[in-house]
Amino acid sequence: MPAHPLLDVDEIPVPLESYLRGIGEVFRRFGAPQQDSGCVSYGVRLPSGERWFVKAPETPDAARTSARAWRFHQEVRHPAIVPQLHRLGPAVVMPWRDGGLLYDPRHRARFRRLAVPEVQRALDRLLDAHLAVEAAGWQPVDLYDGALLYDFDRAALHLIDLDEYRPSPFRLDTARLPGSRRFMAPEEWHRGARIDARTTVYVLGRAVRLLLDAGNEEREWRGTERQLAVVQQATRPDPVERYADVRELAGEWRSATG
Ligand SMILES: Nc1ncnc2c1ncn2[C@@H]1O[C@H](COP(=O)(O)OP(=O)(O)O)[C@@H](O)[C@H]1O
Ligand SMILES: [Mg+2]
Repeated sequence: MPAHPLLDVDEIPVPLESYLRGIGEVFRRFGAPQQDSGCVSYGVRLPSGERWFVKAPETPDAARTSARAWRFHQEVRHPAIVPQLHRLGPAVVMPWRDGGLLYDPRHRARFRRLAVPEVQRALDRLLDAHLAVEAAGWQPVDLYDGALLYDFDRAALHLIDLDEYRPSPFRLDTARLPGSRRFMAPEEWHRGARIDARTTVYVLGRAVRLLLDAGNEEREWRGTERQLAVVQQATRPDPVERYADVRELAGEWRSATG
């Protein structure tokens, strides 16, 4: 079999974009200013029809983040987590996934109109992926709806851009963590705070709160009172009042969901 131009090649002698244009069709390009990560990414279609997502760091910071992300993906595998399969020089190669980013107001509104059982399946998959993350000794940072890609045709949730995930627990040595205010736990804003599984519980509780609601204002909860009580305990300001870890949260959520 001939070598695969993305999976069997380690180094490329030409700039990434011209390499990609030589092996297939670049049908999407993601870069500044929409992407502020210091990365540029491409959607590439090969003559075989296969589609791939290739992401390359362009700054020293982005290169460090990318190295940690590679380690994360080697240690954590889950069907919902889009894997990093190969390094092509400094870039990483991931399978392309169809779907709408739930950060986009249009896709989020569409997601919120889905039947409740379908939303619950997506939330269960989000929790299940984080059971795998937790079991591997990692935890989310910067988890928000920009990491949630929902394939409406296949009713499948995919997790992308988990580049800020870190080994768990850790001490916050900056003024705050990267992330979206709507999802972040209070301790993520305090230099010196311990960031641990209870922080993850908060962030996942926020994701559930926001996604199982008909609107942005959190006034139209679509779940049951019992489910809401689980979310409320997950998102207590004081970490000791929350569930201890994702296992406990997922257990409580699943028994409330039936
Ligand atoms: N595996 C993938 N398949 C399809 N689209 C993807 C994939 N990963 C990311 N994307 C799209 O590319 C955009 C940029 O990717 P992302 O990893 O978020 O880059 P950055 O870290 O630069 O923000 C995402 O917002 C999403 O729309
Ligand atoms: Mg991103």
